[in-house]
Amino acid sequence: MSHPSSVPRHLAIVMDGNGRWANRRLMPRVAGHKQGVDALMNTVRACAARGIQYLTVFAFSSENWKRPQDEVSGLMSLMLSAVAKYLGSLEREGVRVRIVGDRAGISQRVRQACEECEQRTRHNTRLILTVAFNYGGRWDIVQACRRAIAAGVPAEELDEARLSGFMSMADTPDPDLFVRTGGEVRVSNFLLWQIAYSELYFTDCLWPDFDAAQLDAALAAYSARDRRFGTSQEAVPIPPDSSSSIFGD
Ligand code: FPP
Repeated sequence: MSHPSSVPRHLAIVMDGNGRWANRRLMPRVAGHKQGVDALMNTVRACAARGIQYLTVFAFSSENWKRPQDEVSGLMSLMLSAVAKYLGSLEREGVRVRIVGDRAGISQRVRQACEECEQRTRHNTRLILTVAFNYGGRWDIVQACRRAIAAGVPAEELDEARLSGFMSMADTPDPDLFVRTGGEVRVSNFLLWQIAYSELYFTDCLWPDFDAAQLDAALAAYSARDRRFGTSQEAVPIPPDSSSSIFGD
């Protein structure tokens, strides 16, 4: 089964390499994250221009709390300043912003900024930007199980479809393409449930250097993939006059 379009409907990105980008310039790591926010805004615009409907980015992981205190507080301040700087543009440009992650673990100020983003952009439909903040793929699966239990779903009725409904991105199609910048070849606890059949693309490009040309390279690689979603090794064409199929479809 091939994807009908060369443009993914949903692109997920691990924006890695900000620290190294800053180190190479003898700048503090937070300066790399700041540049990363600008790269994110450019990517949002490039995705919208290419007809990508959903963009999901990993901005702060459940594990990022273990970083030095000044970097953690720098990332929190950056979230606030990014909202102050870019929310108006996102609102005007038709981008709907959603935040996923454990909100109980973040400060009231950051939580309020998240809520303001969601509230002000809730009617937009051009591109859905989901920012994973204090997020982990395992956290998401656990919170979905907890909510299913709290909703009284009997164990024997809990299947993949039912549990999917409790995941934090239940109303979003799974990512078609998963991109990680920064040269590491791992998933790092991002969207574990949702990327079961995503195409994976890794690039050495450091996130602050990611631009429209880098995005197009990822999209070109994606369009050359043959997506089969666990079906047979080779897509065997069924003759048009065939009245029966061994697959029963
Ligand atoms: C990984 O780079 C990146 C992060 C931990 C944060 C990503 C955040 C942004 C791009 C800014 C957008 C964020 C907000 C708050 C809106 P790294 O620090 O692990 O880089 P390294 O691997 O080179 O050290």
